[in-house]
Amino acid sequence: MAKSIFLVVVVLCLLIPTPIHGGSVQQASALFIFGDSFFDPGNNNYINTTSDFQANQWPYGKSYFNTPTGRFSDGRLIPDFIAEYAKLPLIPAYLEPGNNEYTHGANFASGGAGALVDSHAGFVVDLHTQLRHFNDLANHYKQNLGDTKASQFLSTAVYLFSCGSNDYLSPVANNHSIYYQHTQQQYVDMVIANLTTVIKGVYEAGGRKYGFLTVPPLGCWPAVRLKQPGNTCVKQIDDIVRLHNQALARQLENLEKQLEGFMFSKFDIYSSISDRMKNPSKYGFKEGETACCGSGPFGGIYSCGGMRRTKEYQVCDNASEYLFFDSYHPNELATRQFAEMFWNGDVEPYNLKALFEG
Ligand SMILES: *[C@@H]1O[C@H](CO)[C@@H](O)[C@H](O)[C@H]1NC(C)=O
Ligand SMILES: *[C@@H]1O[C@H](CO)[C@@H](O)[C@H](O)[C@H]1NC(C)=O
Ligand SMILES: *[C@@H]1O[C@H](CO)[C@@H](O)[C@H](O)[C@H]1NC(C)=O
Ligand SMILES: *[C@@H]1O[C@H](CO)[C@@H](O)[C@H](O)[C@H]1NC(C)=O
Repeated sequence: MAKSIFLVVVVLCLLIPTPIHGGSVQQASALFIFGDSFFDPGNNNYINTTSDFQANQWPYGKSYFNTPTGRFSDGRLIPDFIAEYAKLPLIPAYLEPGNNEYTHGANFASGGAGALVDSHAGFVVDLHTQLRHFNDLANHYKQNLGDTKASQFLSTAVYLFSCGSNDYLSPVANNHSIYYQHTQQQYVDMVIANLTTVIKGVYEAGGRKYGFLTVPPLGCWPAVRLKQPGNTCVKQIDDIVRLHNQALARQLENLEKQLEGFMFSKFDIYSSISDRMKNPSKYGFKEGETACCGSGPFGGIYSCGGMRRTKEYQVCDNASEYLFFDSYHPNELATRQFAEMFWNGDVEPYNLKALFEG
């Protein structure tokens, strides 16, 4: 009897939310998300673009949502897992109609977007526009919560970025002269400078805790090697991606020194994907190079779902067995492995769990 009363008291205590100033309820830090298709939960469903920049058809979504959502995956993306680990609901796409409170944050990412406005211009929401959307929302929070609470909300929130891949894919695919008129290092410096402008914009609005992905090994992407004689990896793209990742590391350390209170986590998805491509079975995959969904050599023709230029495509039976779900994107199982490491792994200088708790 005494024991069950004790239990009831304990359970009641757990159910009573901890009040903070003004009697509101303490909630987990919010999550805001910027970048490209690695993070886009369906924003591109609501813009005027082409099917190249959308994943709103079956079999996208087949392993988890059981319906296409606009995510470029058979299932969830890194921010979906991070939200779960942080005990937040799924963070909604900012452009999806009907969500106007964004109590736990918002996702601004757009498949195909880069740091440079030129990257896939006209088809995506570039990073600078994503920052504008964030600033609009920050003003909305200020009006609703008042300045003090809004700034507390924004400074405890975590801001995730996946950015850069399209700055290297788009100019090669579209023969942008700006890419060919610069050295690789100059071009990388421009990408990093544009990314920095956006990071500083978020910082000015109050953001302090950041998570970044490096750019993955695009030179060996199924869609990239498809266009090579002998379907080899493209060294030139791999070289510029490595320069980007080195420059990103240096710039984040600079920002940590320049901006008071700036904290970050950088997850090396480049190495994690390279390791899995070389040694898929070690991580639970049967196939590390060929995409589950697509056509042609390595499934490199970007036809998954049959809505793009090439209509014919094949899809594997079990997407979990293929590191790549389509010609550009890893599957959900790999994505979960990345999210777990980003959250709780040996990530420098902090993992995301530490940022959420700190
Ligand atoms: C969408 O884009 C296409 C091609 O860029 C253009 O022809 C069309 O007018 C646009 N539609 C809207 C509603 O903006
Ligand atoms: C790329 O653009 C340059 C001019 O900017 C042009 O001379 C060249 O032929 C183009 N290459 C291709 C493959 O379109
Ligand atoms: C961003 O990149 C563009 C090229 O697309 C460049 O003209 C511009 O100066 C860059 N902005 C910053 C702040 O670096
Ligand atoms: C799909 O593959 C994964 C990973 O190899 C395996 O764990 C799972 O049991 C498979 N599912 C089915 C339905 O065969």
